[in-house]
Amino acid sequence: MTVAKPLPHDAAALHVTGQARYVDDIPLPADTVHLAFGLSQIARGRITGMDLSAVRAAPGVIAVMTADDLPFANDVSPSIHDEPLLADGTIHHAGQPVFLVIAESHLAARAAARLGVVACDEETPILTVEEALAADSRFEGGPVIWAKGDVEAALASAPERLSGTLRLGGQEHFYLEGQAALALPQEGGDMHVVSSTQHPTEIQHKVAEALGLPMHAVRVECRRMGGGFGGKESQGNALAVACAVAARATGRPAKMRYDRDDDFIVTGKRHDFRIDYRAGFDREGRVHALDFTQLCRCGWAQDLSLAVADRAMLHSDNAYRIGALRVASHRLKTNTQSATAFRGFGGPQGMAGVEAVMDRIARHLGMDGVALRRRNFYEAARARGPSAPSGESRGAPPSPEDVSGRKKQGEADLTSRGATKISSGTGAAQRFGGAHSPPPPGGANVTHYGMEVTDFELHAMTDRLLETSDYAARRTAIADWNAGSPVLKRGLAYAPVKFGISFTLTHLNQAGALVHVYQDGSIHLNHGGTEMGQGLFQKVAQVTAERFGLPVESVKITATDTAKVPNTSATAASSGSDLNGMAAQNAADQIRDRMAACLAPLYQAEPAAVRFEDGEVVVGEERMPFAEAARICYMNRVSLSAAGYYRTPEITWDRLRGQGRPFYYFAYGCAVTEVVIDTLTGENRILRADILHDCGRSLNPALDRGQIEGGYVQGAGWLTTEELVWDAKGRLRTHAPSTYKIPACSDRPQVFEVALWDGENRSETVYRSKAVGEPPFMLGISAWLALADACAACGPHDPMLNAPATAEEVLAAVGRARG
Ligand code: MTE
Ligand code: MOS
Repeated sequence: MTVAKPLPHDAAALHVTGQARYVDDIPLPADTVHLAFGLSQIARGRITGMDLSAVRAAPGVIAVMTADDLPFANDVSPSIHDEPLLADGTIHHAGQPVFLVIAESHLAARAAARLGVVACDEETPILTVEEALAADSRFEGGPVIWAKGDVEAALASAPERLSGTLRLGGQEHFYLEGQAALALPQEGGDMHVVSSTQHPTEIQHKVAEALGLPMHAVRVECRRMGGGFGGKESQGNALAVACAVAARATGRPAKMRYDRDDDFIVTGKRHDFRIDYRAGFDREGRVHALDFTQLCRCGWAQDLSLAVADRAMLHSDNAYRIGALRVASHRLKTNTQSATAFRGFGGPQGMAGVEAVMDRIARHLGMDGVALRRRNFYEAARARGPSAPSGESRGAPPSPEDVSGRKKQGEADLTSRGATKISSGTGAAQRFGGAHSPPPPGGANVTHYGMEVTDFELHAMTDRLLETSDYAARRTAIADWNAGSPVLKRGLAYAPVKFGISFTLTHLNQAGALVHVYQDGSIHLNHGGTEMGQGLFQKVAQVTAERFGLPVESVKITATDTAKVPNTSATAASSGSDLNGMAAQNAADQIRDRMAACLAPLYQAEPAAVRFEDGEVVVGEERMPFAEAARICYMNRVSLSAAGYYRTPEITWDRLRGQGRPFYYFAYGCAVTEVVIDTLTGENRILRADILHDCGRSLNPALDRGQIEGGYVQGAGWLTTEELVWDAKGRLRTHAPSTYKIPACSDRPQVFEVALWDGENRSETVYRSKAVGEPPFMLGISAWLALADACAACGPHDPMLNAPATAEEVLAAVGRARG
């Protein structure tokens, strides 16, 4: 089987030898011009005048453009046309592009851009969510409120109540390859754009608008990105449009890439949140009511903020069936960078909110955090298949040879490490709220947005993770160790993840692919997904090769190209392999069917009996190499090229009412993290992380493992060291690695045990796999909870830890714990 093999990333060798080509590596035509933006120094005001004479006179400068010089639309917004490429009289944030320098070199453009003088009537910027609330500065009128049950009544009748406020910081994407684009003017005014983008169709759309062209005159290509993480869903628009406009104006190719500091200062980041909460619960740890008010800082333009804020609401239940749950979401407009998509897309903020509350309740009741969580879990999915014992409701994974008969090979080390199947009645399961806890007072197994949870895997997954991570023994050992350690304190925490898979904008759940079989049997593959390091191209190539019974080497992976597959969605919402894998399968199957129909009569066989396996085509008694079969089909005038298409079934979503089935299925994961803190300095370290993650039937366990490890570390980085600081004037002061600290190799857990939960997806996805791009990010929440646990060991009070839990915040939380 080509599918399910732990093959390396298709470009791994190119990556490590420096041959992988990114936008900045493309050899340029000799007359290429280079661009840089002149940026606003203030956060809010009216432009009263501009003196750009020094910019124009600077060495190497060819031209300078302002909003008045743009030929057509001055807009790079992916949503509501509220984001001018160049400021049109009003300044909305410090770092907003005001003018565009076109020069002979990158450095000349950058140097000249600093010489512009922009005179402004400065106004007081709205920077914080509190200031935005006071000024009623927001998107979408008022707050959006979704609810299940009567929250006020449930709070009033609950035996115990807690309330509080939590702050979660934003996050810079810090993709290794910064934003970059190259526009190559073509004959007749057409434009060819190469962009580092997760969304080539959006670039095509915005470039067409900016040039006053139909979309057919613009072609956008992306071979790969050096990371996107959501930051290249919409934030590449400005560079691509600037290049296209400059190329049109000069008749020369135009290239633009942001310097790292500009990338920080200009582009949007993860939304920071303030979450106010109220919780009602009983002394057995059943949560009766939760009320969340999410204040979401969107920045100056709408961008994707409504969908991000929606997803934060959709994940504020995480894994818990709460009888009464209400979420009010305020989408606040501020004079800061326009916050945008970032891995998890609001999900992490919603989930971190409920997880922090769960821990506070557990500490309040003196209960273990795992036991409390399990008491409130959704009900387990029913076991599938005729062979399941009738009383089995824990969703135990199918055996390696499951109903589909697909054997797993070469991945035992990845999927079954230490993962002995344990029954749900073990000591650990009982002690930490396993099988026999009474059901929570949550009513039907339905979320606060009306979706029934039918695939809940976390009971059995948690059983296994507690066992493999030795949670119970370590819990005791850490308490003992802390009792004898006045300065250093350890913390341990478990966190579950239930992440909804599908775009909540329903129409985006579609994809196309284009497959050619050449007469020598080699295959050309193209689809609408983009490669950003996540391994999508290899997974889709594996699926395609599998359909033809070929090794993956038979398939040439090609750059995403709007001229080959049109009307694509962003590669986002973790749905790349679900959507494009299915579209490629559909294209391959069309060709396979045509080949079978051609070959069968030649050898007195039925088309349905033609098999594609082990590099051969089996027709009746005849076996021939795939290449021979392709040649015969070509000679018989059979079309060996097909466009494939897929759209996700069964989803419906009414976002105004907050009701429906926005997700085709859920991906699950859980993690246990151990940390140590220094109570004198707040410094801290992750000592060990154990993860069990649900990839369904993994398309590629090696790539999935990479996503899980990377996602966890990036999630932990968000909640620990990555701190964004704006000054009182709204200028971002942390705009380089010197002041903004992403996790380094040395920050990864010293012990890092990752296992894949190998149950198949209960929904009919490609080879029953599950999306994996974003869900593991939220496993990093366990690191943050473990830090709170360590702080809580310092005193009787709740540490009320905020994020990021920098050394300063940990120190403050230790102080709060001591009281
Ligand atoms: N992994 C790498 N190496 N680089 C990335 O930029 N982006 C993440 C995730 N994993 C990313 C990544 C995000 S935000 C998403 S939505 C998914 O990959 C997108 O790819 P997929 O849909 O193919 O999983
Ligand atoms: Mo990912 S935030 O959906 O690009």
